[in-house]
Amino acid sequence: MRFAAPDILRWFCFEQAAAVSYDLAKSDAPTPNLAELGIETPPLRLRPGAVGGAGELRAALGARYGVGAEEVVVSLGASMTNFLVFAALLEPGDVALVEEPAYDPLVAVPRALGAGVRRFPRPRAAGYQPDLEALAAAAPGCKLIVLTNLHNPSGAALGGDRLAAIAEIARRAGAWVLCDEAYRRFQPALPPLARFGPHCLSVDTLTKVWGLSSLRVGWVVAAAPLCRSIVEAAMVCHVSNPAPTEEVALTLLAHADRLDAWSRSALERNRRLALEFLARQPGLSCYRPEAGPIFFPYLPGNAPARPFVQRLAAAYDTRVVPGDVFGEPTAFRLSCGGETPMLEEGLRRLAQCLREERGAALPQP
Ligand SMILES: Cc1ncc(COP(=O)(O)O)c(C=O)c1O
Repeated sequence: MRFAAPDILRWFCFEQAAAVSYDLAKSDAPTPNLAELGIETPPLRLRPGAVGGAGELRAALGARYGVGAEEVVVSLGASMTNFLVFAALLEPGDVALVEEPAYDPLVAVPRALGAGVRRFPRPRAAGYQPDLEALAAAAPGCKLIVLTNLHNPSGAALGGDRLAAIAEIARRAGAWVLCDEAYRRFQPALPPLARFGPHCLSVDTLTKVWGLSSLRVGWVVAAAPLCRSIVEAAMVCHVSNPAPTEEVALTLLAHADRLDAWSRSALERNRRLALEFLARQPGLSCYRPEAGPIFFPYLPGNAPARPFVQRLAAAYDTRVVPGDVFGEPTAFRLSCGGETPMLEEGLRRLAQCLREERGAALPQP
């Protein structure tokens, strides 16, 4: 099947679909209670939506990047937005150069569209920073370079210097660069890749930083002619966008500061708990990202993580994501985006399961 589920989504939706009480797998910030934040959503108006996103919403999003509405396309979450970008840029036989480890849809969609996929390393030993020499060596002949910032699964950040270097490598190779920035605003000082040239694209979403996956609002910032091709791809896939959802999104953007502050304070508390947990688990080797809800620890002794993850779900009613869906079978992805009491208990259970795994007593969490 050409459009088979990407590994991570197969795991989430088919293999680990049963509800668990302690969910340390979902990587969104907690969903805000908008009424408690004093944000009033507009009344439901069932009118037709625009193709490519309502002009007002595209203008409001563009203003955040210093570009006009014609350089923004809105679609159904980052997932559909990424799909449309791939569909607009890749012909069968083109080559996409994708980071490794990666969020699997970024590999699966180009392949499903008939493109070849090459990989460039983001080595654990280098704090998941891309190997720029390997990237420069692999880039010639590639149509599109694909990366994430923050990096999923590690949470590692790419700063402006690194982004500028990647943009320059792509420019020299005549390639486009797509940066999936679903997690970027967890670290607001990081610039969007779209700033680094007309061949650079930034994708973002309301799902992660504001915990609003329910709205299915994602967008891409790209040069205007490319936006036109992306809108044409949208016409093949879903034509218009949901107007009620976009009206809510526009209202939320007017309260961006309030939502950012809320997300920041929820995450600060939870990150502290996750970092304390990791400090008490000397057997787990884990890069400590500066921001964001995700961590990517490796089990001691290079043990495969999949059986551990299955035992954690079955015996401890708690789930984390097995690293094999990112191509790293001895790691698992731990997220601290959920409600704080749920996270506290989930981490306690994870610690118990790890103790059992090692068959030796470790200090109580
Ligand atoms: C890097 C990345 N991009 C996109 C998505 C999906 O975002 P959305 O809910 O906006 O489709 C995820 C969700 O896990 C993700 O990690």
